[in-house]
Order: sequence, then C-alpha cells, then structure tokens
Amino acid sequence: MNKKTVFSGVQPSGNLTIGNYLGAIKNFSRLQDEYNSIYSIVDMHSITVPQVPSELRKRTYEVLALYLATGLDPEKSTIFVQSHVSAHAELCWVLNSISYMGQLNRMTQYKDKSSKSEENLNAALFTYPVLMAADILLYQTDFVPVGEDQRQHLELARDLAIRFNSKYSDTFKVPDNLIQKETGKIYNLKNPELKMSKSDPDANSYILMLDDKDTIVRKVKRAVTDSLANFNYSKEQKGLQNLINIYSAFSGEDVKNIVNKYRNENYSVFKEDLGILIAEALKPIQNEYDKLMSDKGYLESIMKEGAEKARYLSYKTLRKVYKKVGFVQI
Ligand code: TYM
Repeated sequence: MNKKTVFSGVQPSGNLTIGNYLGAIKNFSRLQDEYNSIYSIVDMHSITVPQVPSELRKRTYEVLALYLATGLDPEKSTIFVQSHVSAHAELCWVLNSISYMGQLNRMTQYKDKSSKSEENLNAALFTYPVLMAADILLYQTDFVPVGEDQRQHLELARDLAIRFNSKYSDTFKVPDNLIQKETGKIYNLKNPELKMSKSDPDANSYILMLDDKDTIVRKVKRAVTDSLANFNYSKEQKGLQNLINIYSAFSGEDVKNIVNKYRNENYSVFKEDLGILIAEALKPIQNEYDKLMSDKGYLESIMKEGAEKARYLSYKTLRKVYKKVGFVQI
C-alpha cells in the first residue's frame, strides 16, 4: 500500500533512439511492479521548439505505442499525455512565481538550444524546466528515472519543491533522480564526445528504436572507435567504451565478460555482433509496436483512462497548492 512513486516523461518530438531507450524507457517497465509508476508523453514540452502539428500528433501515438511495446502495462502504470491534464500548466504557472531568472539562465540545455536558434528564443523554452518540475511535483514523486542530460533539470525541481515548502509549509515531496551509471548517457556514434540525440542532423550518429536490422548493422559498423587496436574498456577509448556499454545493456552481460570475449578479436567482429544483438533485441518491440499502431482506438482508450487517473492524482496536489498561495476555494 505504501509504495513509493516513480514519474518520468518522454517528448514526442522525434523518433526515439536507443539512447532514450537505454537511458530511460527500458527502466520504466522494470519499475512498475515495485513502484506506483506514472509515465507521461510530454507533448507540451515539445512545442518549445517548432513542430509540424500533424507530426506532433502522430508522434504522440508513436511514443505511447513504444511505451506499451517495451512492456508498460496500463493496469500497473498510469500512462497519459501531458496536455490532457491541465494541472501541469497550472502548477507550472505557480512555480514560475518562485523560479529565479538567474537559475533558469544557467540551465545548460537552455543555453545549448538558445545558442542554436536565436530567432526562436521563446519564453516557453526558458521556462521548460519549470514545467518539468510541475510534472514531477504534482504526483508527490519519490524517484525520477531519466538520462544524465536531465540531471540539472531535476536539481531545479528539487530546489523548487524545497523553496515552495519553506515559503508556504510542507506541500511537495522532494524527488531524487534514478540515473543509470552505464547507460545514463549513450554517446553519439560519430562523435563520442556528444550524447546520442534524435535531433542530430547526421542519421548515422544515432540508432532509432524503429531502425531495421540492415540499418542498425550498417550504423554500428560505421561507428567511430579508435586506431589503438586494443579491445579495452577505458575512458581513453570513448567510442569503444560506448559500444561496450550498449552491448552490455542489450545482452545483460557484464563489461568484464564482454572484454574477455573480444580481447583477441578485431573491432569489426565485435561491431558485427553488436549490430545483430541490437537488431534482435529491438525486433519483438518493433513487432508489438506495429500491432499497436494499427489500433488507434485502443491507444486512445489507454490515453483516456490514463488522463482520468492522472487528473485525479494531480488535482489533489494542485488544490493544496492553490489554497496555500491564497487562491479562493469555491
Ligand atoms: P527527452 O524526451 O529528450 O528524452 C527522454 C529520456 O531519454 C533520456 N535520454 C538519454 N539517455 C541516455 N543517453 C542518451 N543519449 C539520451 N538521450 C535522451 C533523457 O534523459 C530522458 O530521460 N525533459 C525531458 C522530458 C520530461 C521529463 C519530465 C522527464 C518532461 N517532464 C518529468 C522526467 C520527468 C526530455 O526532454 O526528455
């Protein structure tokens, strides 16, 4: 009865990569037995950068289908679309009132995104992490499974919870992150200094969850490694280290075993095996995804059910917040 709560979200703004999968989504279904689990498709975050409306709508269904195909069970987890639950925007507004411009200005993701597109410097991009804090705090969340790139945003959510609690009295739980050590940051296949990202212009730098076998095998073959010809797991060989982490995550084998297995082989042998391993691990997910995508009615029924559950839970917190800040209750 006293289960702790887990919350996380994924944006429907592009095809999901194995970075999204290994850093976040793969862990969601693992957590749903032990925790009271809530997972959102955060479409309101996606409009902080330009979107084609019909594409955004389509990708919302796609992320839901991927959630289900990777094992999320609507009987065990609350699965919903963020824009269906207006409490998120409402709490975001209240949290804006205690957010410091200086702190938001220091968010690295904002700095990156704003330096890339000067002409699209909108206010929502700036307050993006406040909406994320609202997502998390509405559900009295204990743990947030995310990738390393969300660590700073999570810190902000914690700060806002603590600030609100001390200004108005105890209201929010202060959440902790659940960031995986080896897969919290999966790197770009072409430049292992960068994270793997669905928004990278070079499609060879990432593997999508929906890539077919030939594409995956080809991309892994072309992944940048090094010329040391020494199969080792070390920080000095970042490209190879990243591939070994991916191998380990998909196979469940530990790094030591993998290094022993391939110690006397060419990198190319390892890469060939890795490509096939990834493709085979993703195949059942892709098959299930195809089935789900052909039944929009079913997906919509899951969205409706999830929205109802999320509305109920989130309004409990929002009502308290409104009372504490001095809004009249009628
Ligand atoms: P998003 O949609 O960019 O990414 C979804 C999840 O994937 C993780 N991730 C990665 N993990 C490892 N290696 C990578 N290369 C990699 N790329 C992405 C992300 O860290 C994330 O966990 N702001 C969030 C969405 C969000 C959210 C929330 C998350 C909105 N509200 C509340 C948690 C709780 C985002 O843009 O994720």
